[in-house]
Amino acid sequence: MISYKELGLVKTKEMFEKALKGKYAIPAYNFNNMEQMQAIIQACVETRSPVIMQVSKGARDYANINLLRNMARGAGEYARELGYDIPIVLHLDHGDSFETCKDCIDNGFSSVMIDGSHLPYEENVALTRKVVEYAHAHGVSVEGELGVLAGIEDEVSHEVSHYTKPEEVVDFVSRTGVDSLAISIGTSHGANKFKREDCTRDADGNLVPPPLRFDILEEIERQLPNFPIVLHGSSSVPQEYVEMIGRYGGKLKDSIGIPESQLRKAASSAVCKINIDSDGRLAMTGIIRKVLTENPGEFDPRKYLGPAREELKKMYMHKNKNVLGSAGHA
Ligand code: G3H
Ligand code: 13P
Ligand code: ZN
Repeated sequence: MISYKELGLVKTKEMFEKALKGKYAIPAYNFNNMEQMQAIIQACVETRSPVIMQVSKGARDYANINLLRNMARGAGEYARELGYDIPIVLHLDHGDSFETCKDCIDNGFSSVMIDGSHLPYEENVALTRKVVEYAHAHGVSVEGELGVLAGIEDEVSHEVSHYTKPEEVVDFVSRTGVDSLAISIGTSHGANKFKREDCTRDADGNLVPPPLRFDILEEIERQLPNFPIVLHGSSSVPQEYVEMIGRYGGKLKDSIGIPESQLRKAASSAVCKINIDSDGRLAMTGIIRKVLTENPGEFDPRKYLGPAREELKKMYMHKNKNVLGSAGHA
């Protein structure tokens, strides 16, 4: 049993309290490897932002839990070496069972998500409650989810989204004891969040997707005043990376994300954790394709992973400063 405290990590409680008061959101960036971790830490140190570094079940399978734990320990030391001690949470993203959550808690995670959103309501309550009991006994925070996002949530696929029902949130939070609640208000995972035919065009001819259901969010806030809300599926799918991938041999279809203005609006509400994974994948892929296409003789991974890391850092800094508003709050 390794406590997150030994690794120099923090849980989400204080971070969320400050984010709620300050009307910003904590970035929750997914990572699977060293370059992603370095970019996240460099960006958050430079912008003085607290950060949630999150690991999916897929990332655990890919990178090994012992290595991930030691990367998180190293992340704190790296931040201090870069000159500023930012608060870092190590979070399990979309935990699918009590056993996965327990394993992460026992391996130094300071926060876990138990995603029972695809289960019947009472089963979601029971599973989430079981995780909360174990997590809280070890001082670890828990995120639950109500409502189902469209798209792919890890291995579970959903054709349509089921928005969170505001009439369920008080019962769910009080019976489970979760520290934060992920909701469904129109976001979805991946780079294809909307179909072209569902979008309109602005004056400059840019595609504008249907707005998020802020009416549902407001009703949830009325039901659960000052309670930390989490928004998954919040990549904005920057078109510069979609175009870069296309220009250098890739092919992405209908890649449309959540406009930054919508995320900014969400960040100034009770939404205090915003999950972003796909944008990092797009930025890395775009740059790696570009470098390799322009330098066909290159075979040193540092020559394409290095520029990819630099681009990721730039993108995360922009998000912290201009979208989530977390810059300056570490
Ligand atoms: O919500 C899902 C995250 O983007 C993680 O995706 O399971 O492919 O690592 P992954
Ligand atoms: P995106 O696919 O929009 O980046 O969402 C990531 C996410 O919600 C991770 O849990
Ligand atoms: Zn998610």
